[in-house]
Amino acid sequence: MESPVTTVPAVLILLGPPGAGKGTQARMLEDRFGLVQLSTGDLLRAAVAAGTEAGRAAKAVMEAGSLVSDDIVIAILRDRLGEPDVAKGVILDGFPRTTVQAEALDTLLSETGQRINAAVSLDVDDAAMVARISGRFTCGSCGEGYHDTYKRPAVEGVCDKCGGTQMKRRADDKAETVGQRLEAYHAQTAPLIAYYANKGVLKSVDAMGDIDAIAGALATIVREAMD
Ligand code: AP5
Repeated sequence: MESPVTTVPAVLILLGPPGAGKGTQARMLEDRFGLVQLSTGDLLRAAVAAGTEAGRAAKAVMEAGSLVSDDIVIAILRDRLGEPDVAKGVILDGFPRTTVQAEALDTLLSETGQRINAAVSLDVDDAAMVARISGRFTCGSCGEGYHDTYKRPAVEGVCDKCGGTQMKRRADDKAETVGQRLEAYHAQTAPLIAYYANKGVLKSVDAMGDIDAIAGALATIVREAMD
């Protein structure tokens, strides 16, 4: 039987193409507001690593840079929303990514009378995204994100956040796959900008600037949206 969705005080959505900074900003918002980041990309990568049925189905699709089926992603997100820690409020990073997923989220939230506080579009240029993605690496222990040029750890090879020394790079961060991921974004996810504008919850942030400046703009939006 499915577990009930936990009632949460805030639901924020970060929309944007690969490399827009959704993960970077979601982790900063977690620290600042005590919210919980729910990244369907991270959940799917964990399923792949664990070799679950969903992970086996998702692996090749992710490596090709296409979107995993709505059924799999919605089931994974639904399970995660049933866990107790989400009661602090959630930042959805990488979900929804299709209109079917957006409608499924509306249905899930309506089960507990909840609403989306804000859907924030991180606006960026495609050309810059390839450079951001190809320079990305993360801490294998805590998941903190870094970049070869834009965000290096203070001590080479050592995570600023947890002291971990196992840095890793993603299998789908290759130049040829990034093109497919951007294409999937424009065809299947960008229409959600209009979807949330129609609901009156859309906010936009220019995400081409400095990481801390973007974090400041997002913090203002989050404070207002949580009032
Ligand atoms: P997912 O893991 O969600 O990846 P993505 O959307 O492609 O986004 P990224 O994680 O690549 O980028 P980001 O926006 O988080 O950027 P980041 O902060 O890391 O999805 C992976 C795959 O899983 C998908 O392709 C699909 O197959 C599947 N999937 C996931 N969710 C799905 C769903 N709902 N439905 C179907 N399939 C799904 O930043 C990137 C780099 O840039 C970092 O190095 C960072 O340090 C740097 N950086 C960040 N901000 C700045 C800045 N302002 N200036 C300079 N550098 C910056």
